[in-house]
Order: sequence, then structure tokens, then C-alpha cells
Amino acid sequence: MKFNNYNLYNKFNSNELQKLNTKAKQIKSDLYAKNGKGSEYTGWVNLPSTINSNLITDINKTAQSFSNVKFVVVIGIGGSYLGAKAVIEGLKNNFSNFIDNKTPHILYAGFNISEDYVYELKQLLTGKDFGIIVISKSGTTLEPALAFRVLKDLLEKNVGTEKSKNRIVAITDKSKGALKKLATQNGYKTFIIPDDVGGRYSVLTPVGLLPIAIAGFSIQKIINGAVIAENDAKNSDINSDLAMQYAITRNLLYASGKKVEMLVNYNPKLHFFGEWWKQLFGESEGKDGKGIFPTIGNFTTDLHSMGQYIQEGERHLFETVLSIEKPNNEIVIPLSEANLDSLNYLAGKNVEFANKQAQEGTRIAHENGNIPNLTIEIPVLDEFNIGKLIYFFEIACAYSAYFIDVNPFNQPGVEAYKLKMFELLKNNL
Ligand code: PA5
Repeated sequence: MKFNNYNLYNKFNSNELQKLNTKAKQIKSDLYAKNGKGSEYTGWVNLPSTINSNLITDINKTAQSFSNVKFVVVIGIGGSYLGAKAVIEGLKNNFSNFIDNKTPHILYAGFNISEDYVYELKQLLTGKDFGIIVISKSGTTLEPALAFRVLKDLLEKNVGTEKSKNRIVAITDKSKGALKKLATQNGYKTFIIPDDVGGRYSVLTPVGLLPIAIAGFSIQKIINGAVIAENDAKNSDINSDLAMQYAITRNLLYASGKKVEMLVNYNPKLHFFGEWWKQLFGESEGKDGKGIFPTIGNFTTDLHSMGQYIQEGERHLFETVLSIEKPNNEIVIPLSEANLDSLNYLAGKNVEFANKQAQEGTRIAHENGNIPNLTIEIPVLDEFNIGKLIYFFEIACAYSAYFIDVNPFNQPGVEAYKLKMFELLKNNL
């Protein structure tokens, strides 16, 4: 894995850099010594290297029990579904919905309250045997609870109450919340979310691993990648710790007025990885009137919608490009005798050659337009490297939040809409 900030440090004053380096050392030592804000939620720091092999076996065995159903619905919102979706969308075939799959199709619910969405999902699943993985750490979140109520009722009608119990898995707190109660009463297979791991840091627990395993991907390889990233971060000083270098660079840019970060990809499979990253950074940093606003860019697609703004609009942006060195497949651009499109100069080159020229050309053009660019590069898009990236961003996010002195692991602001919504739900009955 590589991180490049294109000599951006040269643009900043050395005293400022010195101060940040001193702070970085303190931040790193606080995180590992559990002295930082919210340290009771830093269980994810050692998660990859301490994951129990019996748990991996249990997750794989549970995933296997769904091998004869066509659809499995993952019910959850925020950190309870975005990690799984990021990995599954990152690894699966772009057209898997139209291919005869060996593994179940993963569908998602409980991440909105749209009646049309639930109706159409119900319509698809009516009369079918399907699986449900219901995920909620608190066990009381309205969106997944409503979706579960509807889909559980449907599954019971489809296959009978007894059989439905073997088709439902709950992932929740070890003792608290309505979901835990429901799971215990109905005897559902249950996995626990550790107390010291918050929702958006939970992808390497059963929250992410079970759906990923059901979709047919190797959770062991993901963990292997994350273990490497964990060791890299733990065993490096701040200069060789790439996650810390990314955090320092972000912080410098933020302090210089770059208040919006766009995580850019050049492969549509990374769209949901961007969504996961957006939640991780947005919910961790955005508090106390502070924090970089995270957004995502799917390039070159969005260059034809947002490219104008990025090049010439308000100068409060920087871009972090999530780059993949080598694609998994090869398409050679064919020669055309008529050459009516005048593209024969590209004949014999791979499509990725054009993609990489677009990537480099965009970086140079945007930098010329005062949009600083950073690049994080992995060699290929596979389980191992996704595992590395997950841990890399988790640790970089914790460092970054500590730079601006906020607690990366709480989300007090999320409660505000819930309170108003519940007030209205009760008053308007
Ligand atoms: O990161 C977080 O803690 C949140 O995004 C939660 O994951 C999200 O709000 C869902 O909460 P729960 O799992 O309790 O239903």
C-alpha cells in the first residue's frame, strides 16, 4: 500500500510541521495506551490480530447454512450495514444480479423508511424461502426494527414460524436492547457485537464478516490484510506510519481552509467503500463545530457532473484518490479499419491505460486549480487489500479526530433527529 501527498509538506512552514509531529506522537501513544477521548470504544484497535479462530469457523458455518437460498436480506443502518456493503460491492461482479450465482444475492433493508422500498422488497420475496441477518448494536434503532418486523412476518408466512427461526440470525449487544430480547425468545442464532467496538468500527466483527462470508468471500483473507495493517501501524514511527501521514496531511489542509475532502475512485466497485469511509469520517470527526466534510467522487463519471465545480468553484476542497494499481481483468482496445472515431492511436492498449491517463491528467489539472491531491494506492482490489484499507482508514480516522481534539467514537448529534422523530411519531398517531 502506498500513500503520496506529492510533497505537500514543502508548502507549509516547518514550525507548524514540527508542532504537528509532536502532537502526532502524543496521539499515537494516547490511542494505544487508551488515554485518548472515548478510549472505552477502542476495542477495534487490536481486533484483527486477536480475532478468535472459533468465531471465524462459526461465521463460515453459519454462512454455509444459507447456501441453498437465493436471497439473504441484511437489515441494518449506518455502521451496521455499510461495511458489509462496501466489501461485497467492492468484490462482486458488476453484473452479478444477471449471472447464475453460486452464493445467495445479498439484499439490504432497514437503512431507510421508504414504504415503496419495503413494498418492492416484499414483492420480490413473497412466497420464497430467504435468509435474514438483522444487525443492530443498540437493538432499538427504528429503521432496522421496522424492516425486521415486516420481513420476519413475511418469512413466517412463506416458510412457517418454526423453519423461519433457522433462517434468521441476529447480531447485537450481548445483553441489552429489544433485538437481543427477540433473539433470545425466538431462539435465533446470535452473534455478539463487542461492547468496546462502535457501529462504524465494526466491519471486522460478525457485523461485516457474516454478510461477506454469505456472499462467498474469504473473511480469513480480509482479516489477514487487516492484521498486516494493524502491525504496520503499531510497529512504525510517525514518519513511516502511512495512516498517520494521511492524518497529518488532512489536518494541515483543514487548517489551511480546505474543509471538504472528496474520496475519489476510478472504479465503480469502490462507490460503497466511499460511502463507508464517508460515514466513518463524518460521524467520527463532525462534532463540536469542527471536522472536515467528507464526500465521494466516482470518476471519471462525476467529472462530467461535478468536474466544473471542482476545477473552478469555491476553493475549499481537496481530493484523496483511492487508486488500484492493476485491474483484475484485461480488455485490449481493438483496431478499427475505418477508424471513424480516430481512436486507433489507442489500439492494442488496455482500457486501464486510458483510465490511468485520465487519473493522472485529472490530478494535474485539479492541482493546477488549487485542489490539493493525495493518493492512497493498493496493488489490486481483493479481500486482502480491502482488509488492509479498512484498518488503515479506521486508524487514520481516530488519529485525525484526535488532531482536532474530538471524541472519534461517539455520535451525540445523531440523537437529535431521533428525539424529534419519536416525539412526532407519538403525537401524530
Ligand atoms: O457508527 C455508529 O455507531 C452508527 O452509525 C450506528 O451503526 C447506526 O446508528 C446503527 O445503530 P445500531 O447498530 O445501534 O442500530
